[in-house]
Amino acid sequence: MLSGKRIILGITGSIAAYKSAEIVRRLKASNADVTVVMTRSGMEFITPLTMQTLSRSPVYTETFVLQKDSRIAHIEIVKSADLFLIAPATANIIGKITAGIGDDVLTTMVLSARCPVLIAPAMDSDMYYNPIVQRNISSLKERDYRFIEPEDGELASGIIGKGRLADIEKILSSVIDVLVVKKDLADEVVLVTAGPTREYMDPVRFISNRSTGKMGFALAEAAKSRGAEVILISGPASLHKPAGAELINVVTADEMREEVMKNLQRATIVVMAAAVSDYMPVKMWQDKIKKSGKDINIGLTEVTDILSEIGKNKGGRIIVGFAAETNDLINNAQIKLNEKNLDMIVANDVSKPDAGFEVDTNIVTIIEKDGMITEHGKMSKKEVAHRIFDKIVRLKRRYSDSIIV
Ligand code: CTP
Repeated sequence: MLSGKRIILGITGSIAAYKSAEIVRRLKASNADVTVVMTRSGMEFITPLTMQTLSRSPVYTETFVLQKDSRIAHIEIVKSADLFLIAPATANIIGKITAGIGDDVLTTMVLSARCPVLIAPAMDSDMYYNPIVQRNISSLKERDYRFIEPEDGELASGIIGKGRLADIEKILSSVIDVLVVKKDLADEVVLVTAGPTREYMDPVRFISNRSTGKMGFALAEAAKSRGAEVILISGPASLHKPAGAELINVVTADEMREEVMKNLQRATIVVMAAAVSDYMPVKMWQDKIKKSGKDINIGLTEVTDILSEIGKNKGGRIIVGFAAETNDLINNAQIKLNEKNLDMIVANDVSKPDAGFEVDTNIVTIIEKDGMITEHGKMSKKEVAHRIFDKIVRLKRRYSDSIIV
């Protein structure tokens, strides 16, 4: 699967460094070409000889090793790399990368990397949650460095907490995600909506819901990685803008509707993942509503259903909706699919603990216009996003085949 891919594996001084041996073995088994680079403290935990034997390539531990033709070897290697994986990555290396320090072979190589850099932190949980480390991670994420989150479990210190190096399967699947991306949406303009909307009743109070935007942002990222031009219209969410996507921030359902309509003509695929408010207050108080000692009634009126409006004006677009349900999932979702004139609906039971709002995972059932129903077990929102686009691509092919026939 990774045939011909050049991967640099950076190993730093964490007890989890022994797991790097298995990472190299698995990458080699997938036919990747692996070059190992170790920091001085990394070498305290595992030897360069082990890594050299497993990678079947020289291991870089010193900055100035000259190749036969006198060019600096480590810079040559990083120039032709497809991926720079650092596993395990200590708080120290994360701090150095953030600060742009190049004081050993690993940091100088990361500084000159043009390929994606994937970092798998492993450290004590107090260190991981230290605001300085968290700020470093956020700032690297903003610069498109990717992270594989550490796991909860027993740490070397004996305490239970977050900080264990991610599972090797997860590390390998992240490597594959970065290196083996399909570009099957290269000719598409994908419009995605995300997050909640807020309907204000006075300058400080509003009606909203528990949506965080995670599903919509994952969809935007997935579409982008598959080559699409992406327009992401999002309600209030505290997430990083997916690299390369056009992000339009909105607050209310009306603003979301306006932006969707403004951008609809450009879109060839629309995925409405936003949890748009169904109701808004009949009126908005100009000043903050004061306590009066009496009950007050706030009348609510229905807001326009954006998806239904798009469904009426569909053209050749693929339109996908979400159905957030707490009961009778399939039936309710099927009704929405038909009433809103959709090609596909993604139904999720938002009452389940690992699905729907706020969490990083989802459990969905995808229902297509022709009645095909596919159930997906618990998976990350990113994976759900890819499954949805797999279906959309197949649907597009089916539609264009039927036009040719
Ligand atoms: N939706 C929309 N505009 C609205 C409300 C919902 O575009 N004002 C979209 C959502 O983005 C989602 C789909 O419609 O893709 C279904 O939303 P959901 O909240 O599950 O259902 P509703 O249609 O609002 O119906 P109900 O709340 O009664 O289940």
